[in-house]
Amino acid sequence: MGVRPEAQPADANGGSAAGESQDLRREVEQLRARVQQAEERRRALIHIMGDLNDSNRRLGDQRKAMLHILKDANVTNLKLADSRKAMIHIMGDLRETTQEIERREQELRDKQEQLVQAGKLATLGELTTGVAHELNNPLNNIGLFVGNAIDRARAGEVDAGVLVADLEKAMAQVRKATEIISHLRAFGRAAPMAFRTADVHEIIERALSLVQEQLKQRGIEVVFDLCDEDVSVLSNPIQLEQVFINLLTNARDALEGSDLREIRIASRLRDDTVVITFSDTGPGIPPELEPRVFDPFVTTKEVGSGTGLGLSITYSIVKEHGGEISVVSPSGEGATFTIELPRGGERPPVEPLL
Ligand SMILES: Nc1ncnc2c1ncn2[C@@H]1O[C@H](COP(=O)(O)OP(=O)(O)OP(=O)(O)O)[C@@H](O)[C@H]1O
Ligand SMILES: [Mg+2]
Repeated sequence: MGVRPEAQPADANGGSAAGESQDLRREVEQLRARVQQAEERRRALIHIMGDLNDSNRRLGDQRKAMLHILKDANVTNLKLADSRKAMIHIMGDLRETTQEIERREQELRDKQEQLVQAGKLATLGELTTGVAHELNNPLNNIGLFVGNAIDRARAGEVDAGVLVADLEKAMAQVRKATEIISHLRAFGRAAPMAFRTADVHEIIERALSLVQEQLKQRGIEVVFDLCDEDVSVLSNPIQLEQVFINLLTNARDALEGSDLREIRIASRLRDDTVVITFSDTGPGIPPELEPRVFDPFVTTKEVGSGTGLGLSITYSIVKEHGGEISVVSPSGEGATFTIELPRGGERPPVEPLL
């Protein structure tokens, strides 16, 4: 505010007094305008300060929220670190479990190998009578031919041609006996034989050679319906022989009380699959047994005459050959087992057992 000038007496100079009062009024006006301006600025300032206050409050809130988020992020980080540690732990456990499973699988395979071997030995034991008979034949014949030769030599009939003919016949019988024995030895061998391409028909023939004596003794006829195509499969022939022997001995047992005793062995080629069927004219498999017939220890035979392992061993061998085995047994129409094997080809991948 400006300094007010000293007031002059009005009567000394009337004109200047009026002028002064006008100046004074103007000054008062100016002062009032300034006061008003100041008041407006003050209000604006108060408004701005209010705004600032609001902004400050918001900033404070946002800061708090930010702190909260940061705290959460920290907790999440800690949780993530914990989860990572847990994950590493679980992965370690998983690795151990996988190794354990692999170990168990190997054990299972070894046990299966032993089971197949035990099955083979049991088959050999069971077939001893038949095999002895098989061997008896060539031995008798050898005796006969050698005896002839001795008799002729003793009687002075030394015609070399006749003697050699007798001895050659004896030799052929020796070869036959040796063949039977080497077949038995190969079949009973524990060492797992390598996979090789083998003719299914030949394997069926070899299996039959071990059981045919028993079938003959029981009046069971074997009928063949084999295809002409090449039915070679990449296989372990000894194991496939075991499969066929199991099916034949099961059919043999099933035919025990039947009037018509027939086993039909058929083969055909379907695309690249060799399909082999073994059918019999027995009573068939009871329907309640059929779904479990390939399970181990399922048997209807008396204790001591069947372990119930034959078909489960058969099943695992067929699977190991990349094949399938199934059975149909409509009531009263016997049983038909069907085996499907991939023709030729690569060694099938070993399926995980679990
Ligand atoms: N061709 C068939 N006809 C009727 N039943 C059958 C036939 N093949 C198998 N079975 C039934 O399936 C059961 C299981 O057969 P599997 O070969 O597994 O064992 P098993 O013959 O009883 O004993 P093992 O073969 O161990 O000496 C048999 O006990 C029998 O009841
Ligand atoms: Mg059996």
